[in-house]
Amino acid sequence: MSKKKLLVLTGGGDCPGLNAVIRGIVKAADAEGIWEVWGSIEAFNGLLRNPAEIVPLNNENVAGIHIKGGTILKTTNKGNPFANSKDDIAQKIIEKLKENNFEAVINIGGDGSQYISQKFFERGVNIVGVPKTIDNDLACTDRTFGFTTAVQIATDSFDKLVTTAESHHRVMIMEVMGRDAGWIALHTAIAGGAEICLIPEIPYDINKLVEKINQRYKNDRGFVNIVIAEGAKPKDGEVSTLEDVKGGREHKRLGGVAFALSEQLKEAGCKAEIRETVLGHTQRGGTPVAFDRVLATLFGVKAYELVKNGDFGKMVSYRGNDIVKVTLKEAIEHHNLVNPSSSLVSAAKNLGVVFGN
Ligand code: F6P
Repeated sequence: MSKKKLLVLTGGGDCPGLNAVIRGIVKAADAEGIWEVWGSIEAFNGLLRNPAEIVPLNNENVAGIHIKGGTILKTTNKGNPFANSKDDIAQKIIEKLKENNFEAVINIGGDGSQYISQKFFERGVNIVGVPKTIDNDLACTDRTFGFTTAVQIATDSFDKLVTTAESHHRVMIMEVMGRDAGWIALHTAIAGGAEICLIPEIPYDINKLVEKINQRYKNDRGFVNIVIAEGAKPKDGEVSTLEDVKGGREHKRLGGVAFALSEQLKEAGCKAEIRETVLGHTQRGGTPVAFDRVLATLFGVKAYELVKNGDFGKMVSYRGNDIVKVTLKEAIEHHNLVNPSSSLVSAAKNLGVVFGN
């Protein structure tokens, strides 16, 4: 009997752990022997190309990939097949899935990708979502893989900045990613012992920051380490953006907030010498930490199980130390943002971290 065909793809920004998900799916499918797994290169673009750029995935070509960063299937964060009112690209994808005899799809991606998954599900595609993002901003899952690695990378850099801040009596500002969510910044601030942590969910008052900095300096001696999320903004201010991104779901490219904060501090009377560091894409690169490898692998195995059981329109999720499923519909309803009244924020405040509110 011929095997059923399953298509796997990775969409949106890359993230440590994507390869571990792919390997988890392939190994679980291989053990069952009912489905053969294929990968579409660069999200759905591969399927749309003529000839289709799709590759068979098997135990041999996924061996050992769980420790590698990036994605062997490549990715893109541009293009939403449902962007125009006629949905003609989406229609083309559905036709191509049929033409190539794909009976199911596993879409590994962030909120934008899972929005697309839900739209395809509504159009009759047998689809399962796997949540990924370093930002940890997807709802209905306690964690996304990639986040823990990003926090580790940010914390390692933060630790290095602390020693040089102390030597030079400087204020160090470190900008981290996260889009509209402050998870990476907050976890790094607690792990690293920051004096100031600025996140999108808590707009800051610049005068409160200068006050904290002044408290840390005596006769021009002192140092302060600040973590700022790329989406943070002052009270009554705007987020810092670099450029508009055309085509994807995320239209604004965030960035530049470390330098903006530096200027605001000087204008507000901060006399200390300030230096800015932007971590950028280092947070998304390289090998995933063990936790992310495990989470991503379990997500892959669970996603295959949902396909096997014909349980479509679902996203795999990590809840209360267990791997479960949620509907794609609930998963895309809202974002997972830091709650300013959460125990995490209040613990940080008790440690002396200033948020500027
Ligand atoms: O969503 C993940 C993320 O890394 C965000 O933290 C960041 O704002 C964005 O992607 C950067 O996207 P790009 O890779 O297009 O620069």
